[in-house]
Amino acid sequence: MLNFDSHALALLFLTLVLVLWRRWKDSRQYPLPPGPKKLPILGNLFDIPRKGFIWLDYIEMCRKYDSDIIHLSALGNSIIILDSVKAASDLLEKRSSLYSSRPKSVMLNELVGWGAIAITRPNDDIWKSQRRILTNAISPTDVKRFHPKQIATTHELLRALAHSDDIIRDLNMWTTVLITDITYGIQGEEAQPFIKTAIEAVETITIATTPGAFAVDQISILKYVPEWFPGAGFKRKAREWNLLRTKMTEDPFRVTKERMAAGTATPSLASIALEKMDLTKDIAQQEELIKAASVTAHIGGTDTIVVTIASFILAMLMNPDIQTRAQLELDRVLAPGDLPTFSLEPDLPYIQQLFGRHQPVVPLCFPHLVTEDDVYSGYLIPKNSIIMPNVWSILHNEEDYPDPYEFNPSRFLDANGRIDPSVKDIGPAFGFGRRTCPGKELAMASLWIRIASILTCYKIEPEIDEHGNLAERKAEWYPGLTMFNHPLPFKCRFIPRSKDIEASLDMKFT
Ligand code: HEM
Repeated sequence: MLNFDSHALALLFLTLVLVLWRRWKDSRQYPLPPGPKKLPILGNLFDIPRKGFIWLDYIEMCRKYDSDIIHLSALGNSIIILDSVKAASDLLEKRSSLYSSRPKSVMLNELVGWGAIAITRPNDDIWKSQRRILTNAISPTDVKRFHPKQIATTHELLRALAHSDDIIRDLNMWTTVLITDITYGIQGEEAQPFIKTAIEAVETITIATTPGAFAVDQISILKYVPEWFPGAGFKRKAREWNLLRTKMTEDPFRVTKERMAAGTATPSLASIALEKMDLTKDIAQQEELIKAASVTAHIGGTDTIVVTIASFILAMLMNPDIQTRAQLELDRVLAPGDLPTFSLEPDLPYIQQLFGRHQPVVPLCFPHLVTEDDVYSGYLIPKNSIIMPNVWSILHNEEDYPDPYEFNPSRFLDANGRIDPSVKDIGPAFGFGRRTCPGKELAMASLWIRIASILTCYKIEPEIDEHGNLAERKAEWYPGLTMFNHPLPFKCRFIPRSKDIEASLDMKFT
C-alpha cells in the first residue's frame, strides 16, 4: 500500500517524466523556424550579417523566408530573430519567465569582469535584487527628485552648445556629468576624475559588445591563451579594461558612502538605496548589490542618452519645417526669456514625439536568452537560443506607422494636436518583459528637458561653407559597427533665437 507521501512522490516523478518526454517529443516533432541553409558545424556563420546596418539585413532575411521569426546557428550557438511586435511580446513578455536571461560574453563578463552587474547577468537572484534596487531608487516618484539635476546640467549643455566645435563630445560630457550626479550625488570639480573614468570605461564596453569584435566570444577556450602569446592582444586589453571597471565601480561608490557617513550626501540613486537597506540582513552583501546596481545605471544612462540627443539634433537639421513647428509650440507656452520646466510637459505634446522611433538607439535591443526548449507558431525554439527582437523593424512597421521612414512626429497626435492613444508608442525602444529598461522614466525626463531647452534657445542650422552658402544638409550613420545606431560626427550651428535667453543662461552668445 502506498501512503500519502509516496503517492505525492510518485505523482511528482510521473509529472517529471511527462515533462521531459514532452520536451523530447517537441524537439523531434517541431521544425526550427525558417532561415538560411546551414553548413555542417559552421551552421550560418557566413550568413550572419556583421557589418553595415544589420537590422536592415535581418528585415530582408525575414522577408525572404516570409516569417516574423527566423533561426540561424553559428558554431553551435542558436540565434532567433523576432521581426514583429507580436512575436516579441508573445515570447519576451507573455512567456517572460523563459525568455529573460542574457547570453554570456566571455570577453565582457569574464575577462573584463562585468559579469556581476544587472545588464549582463543571467536571470538569477543577483539580477533580481539589483533590478529591485534600481526600480525602488528610480521609481516614477523618486525620479522627480532628480529634476533639478536634469535642469542644471541641461543649462550647462546649452552654454556648451553655443560655441561647440564637437557636439558629440559636449553631449557626452554633460550626460556623464548628469548620470554621475544622479547615481552618486557627486558634482562639480570633484566629479571630474570619475567622469573621465566613466567615459573611458563605457567606451571599452561599447567596443567589447560590438558583435564579432572578439574571437574569444565565439571560441571560449581562447580565454586560456597567455597574454604573451602572439595574437593574444585581447588578453592585455581585457586586463587594462578590468582596471578601469574596478575604478568606475569602486571609487564613486566609496565617496557616496563617505559623504553619507559625514552627513553631507545629496540624494542619489546609491544613497537612496543605501538608506533603504534592511539592517536586519547582511549589510556587506546588500552594499555589493547596491554598488553593482549603481554602476549599471551609470553605464546604461550614458551612451543611450547621448546617441538619442545627437539623432534628435540631426533630425532637426534635416527637417527645418518640423523644427519650426516644435518651436512654435514652445513659443505658445513660454514667455520670452523663459526656459522650459517639467510642469510644462503636458502642454507640449509635439515636443514629446521628437525622439525614439525614427532612429531607435538600440535597434536590435540587448540580446535575451531562452532558458528552456519552447514551441511557438509550430516552431521549436531550442533552449539557450539567443533571442534578438528587431526593434528597428517593429518601429518601422508599415501597419503601425504608415510611411515609416518619414520623420513625422505628428503621426502620434490626433486632429486636436493631443497624443493619440491609438498609435503605438515607442515602448519597444526600451526593450521587453522583465528586462525592460529600468531607467526609462529617468531617460524620458532627461531627454524631454534637453530637447525642449535646445529648441527654445537655438535654431539648428547647417554650417556656412567656404563660398558663404549654407552647407548641404546631410545625415550619415555609423554602419552598424556597435550595437548602437549612432550618427557619424556632424557639424551644425546653434543660432540663439532671442537675446532674452542670454540673461536666463547667464552668458553672452557672442
Ligand atoms: C534613451 C535612453 C535609453 C534607452 C533607449 C534604453 C534602452 C534600453 C534597452 C533596449 C534595454 C534592454 C532591454 C531588454 O533587454 O529587453 C535597456 C536595459 C537597461 N537600461 Fe536602458 N535605455 C535608456 C536609458 C537608460 C538609463 C537613463 C538608465 C539608467 C538607470 C538605463 C539603465 C538600464 C539598465 C540597468 C538596463 C539593464 C536591465 C536588465 O538587464 O535587466 N537605461 N535599456
